[in-house]
Amino acid sequence: MGGEMTRVVQDADMKTLWVRHPSGQYPIYIGRGLRHEVGARLAGKPYTRSAFIVTDEHVAPLYSEDLVHSLSTARFTAHLVVVPAGEEHKNLNTVQDLYNAFLDRGIDRSTPVLALGGGVVGDITGYAAATVLRGVPFIQVPTTLLAMVDASVGGKTGVDMPQGKNLVGAFKFPDMVIVDTETLQTLPREEVACGMAEVIKHGLIADPGLLEMVSAPEEVRDWPSLVARAVQVKIDIVEQDPFEQGRRAVLNLGHTFAHALERVANYKLRHGFAVGLGLIAAARLAVLLGDAREELVDTVIDALRTAHLPLCWSALDAPESPPIPSHVWEAMWTDKKRRGKALRFIVPCEPGRVIVRSDVPKSLVLQALEVILC
Ligand SMILES: NC(=O)c1ccc[n+]([C@@H]2O[C@H](COP(=O)([O-])OP(=O)(O)OC[C@H]3O[C@@H](n4cnc5c(N)ncnc54)[C@H](O)[C@@H]3O)[C@@H](O)[C@H]2O)c1
Ligand SMILES: [Zn+2]
Repeated sequence: MGGEMTRVVQDADMKTLWVRHPSGQYPIYIGRGLRHEVGARLAGKPYTRSAFIVTDEHVAPLYSEDLVHSLSTARFTAHLVVVPAGEEHKNLNTVQDLYNAFLDRGIDRSTPVLALGGGVVGDITGYAAATVLRGVPFIQVPTTLLAMVDASVGGKTGVDMPQGKNLVGAFKFPDMVIVDTETLQTLPREEVACGMAEVIKHGLIADPGLLEMVSAPEEVRDWPSLVARAVQVKIDIVEQDPFEQGRRAVLNLGHTFAHALERVANYKLRHGFAVGLGLIAAARLAVLLGDAREELVDTVIDALRTAHLPLCWSALDAPESPPIPSHVWEAMWTDKKRRGKALRFIVPCEPGRVIVRSDVPKSLVLQALEVILC
């Protein structure tokens, strides 16, 4: 049985999606139990026989042993590097710790670095992998729904600065993304809900069928299919705009609102919850602009409700009472993604179709905010 584990087991349910980018393409493997095959998938690559696994202190006790075992079976020496969990550690200090761990343990330019964890681990590890020795092979093994459908795809990596989030970073395309949907079983419910906000966003942007999948009863939920479908929306968009010069803006649906809400809440608000509220406000705005029918707001609210996402500020367990709409409006103007003089909104016209508008009157934005700030 010795060599058995080094083979890639053919899982009939496994899905492989490809992401094309300017310097090549990479596969995203999605299925149940794929963490046990990571070593086998790396074995055929032109890598050195040592590998780094970067993970955080929550994910390490759950899945790092499986990954180390899988790599060892494929004759890799696995070096485990555990960083503290949480956005507050997504900074250059943690990157420095990674550089030290890599260099002290003899990394070279063909040593693969794996990110095992959520978007925080993926972003920091990707940035470290992009920069150490001017770039080493990088593999994403996302374990949160948000990382599976969003953060692990598209090549953006980076860290936060005291001046703001994600201000230092690099584009670094992974060699592959390995999504084991079994890891979602241990993900706290609220984190699953937050990932669902991005799934619903993707449905609204380009795939109405996704909204139906979100509404399916949880007992029968087919995670590999749902993740594959949600990530395909992001793939299609980043392939058209690999370096975020245009079309990628549509991925910001709900995010002009969400970022402003997060800012007025001093970031004590979960991003996914803010995105959920942002999607409601965006749908409301679309109706006020005459770009969507009233039912769109109900469609968005129904999807968020089935995903156990809050539907208004008071359902957030937010410490403070709702801000007034004009404060949120002001917070929109400090967004780093703002270009030129006008605020840009992604407006959902119907499930699967959005437009970009830069001519939205303040009065309508304030009105749209009212529905969620109660
Ligand atoms: N690079 C991109 O394109 C991109 C896109 C979207 C978001 N992001 C970034 O992603 C980050 C958010 O990612 P996130 O929501 O995954 O947060 P996260 O990485 O902080 O993970 C959330 C929590 O879940 C824990 N966890 C992870 N997997 C688990 C599992 N399977 N079981 C139990 N616990 C688990 C983590 O330890 C953490 O405490 C932000 O920093 C954001 O900026 C990046
Ligand atoms: Zn988001």
